[in-house]
Amino acid sequence: MTDPMSDEFDAVAAWTADAAVSLGASYYIPAGCRGSGSPAALSWLVDALALTSSDRLLDVGAGVGGPAAFAAQSSSARPVLAEPEPGACRAARRLFGFPTVRAAAEALPFASGSFDVAWCLGVLCTTDDQPGVLAELRRVLAAGGHLGLLVFTVDRASNRPHPTGNHFPTAPALRTMLRDAGFDIAASKEMSAFGPEPAGWRRQVDMVDAELDRRHHDDESWQIAQRQSSTIGRLLEVGELTGSVLDLRAD
Ligand SMILES: C[S@@+](CC[C@H](N)C(=O)[O-])C[C@H]1O[C@@H](n2cnc3c(N)ncnc32)[C@H](O)[C@@H]1O
Repeated sequence: MTDPMSDEFDAVAAWTADAAVSLGASYYIPAGCRGSGSPAALSWLVDALALTSSDRLLDVGAGVGGPAAFAAQSSSARPVLAEPEPGACRAARRLFGFPTVRAAAEALPFASGSFDVAWCLGVLCTTDDQPGVLAELRRVLAAGGHLGLLVFTVDRASNRPHPTGNHFPTAPALRTMLRDAGFDIAASKEMSAFGPEPAGWRRQVDMVDAELDRRHHDDESWQIAQRQSSTIGRLLEVGELTGSVLDLRAD
């Protein structure tokens, strides 16, 4: 029995780097955005968090590293990546060369107050200790620091299947957890308000996926990752889940 989270974020992350390398460097960032895929949402976060070239950006649950590379490209911020899956750590180092530590969000190997800006994109719902993750994010940020989140909240219960290993809070429960952890919401925007991804970006993501499918079509890990992703897609489509980006201030 395989673990769907490891299939999706370990084996497939490493394969994604292989596929991106075979397609060329212009594919690295779209290939490396696994779950936060919208460039408009990432630009919104870069602006809202007021990222500058002097900021060290901590990306928690960084995956293959595409969002961190997007931030570095658009703001010259210097990202540091934390990610628990070894395959994703290797993929991020291979594609982007950023300092990457293998660590879970619940126990970050950084001193208290050591970052002015952090973000954690599409990660909170993959852990069942969400207050613990938020407390740890607050600990590593300096007072007044910014935290960017991409989160999925559940709007209404149904009998539809949820992706294995995911825990979606309601929007009010999320607001309470954020307040209890010491964060104020400065701004937020629903992912649906950003509109569709630019055609060129979509085409590159589709080509990476086609290359992964060509190489790994019969592999169970790939099939499980595809099922996880289409389950989330369906829940978003029917309005049972809402994706949002948030700009938070550490008090
Ligand atoms: C949907 S992916 C998002 C990856 C990346 N943030 C992005 O937007 O492309 C979720 C990531 O969270 C990581 N993850 C899962 N549980 C975690 C935890 N407890 N602490 C930190 N990261 C975790 C996974 O390994 C995976 O890389």
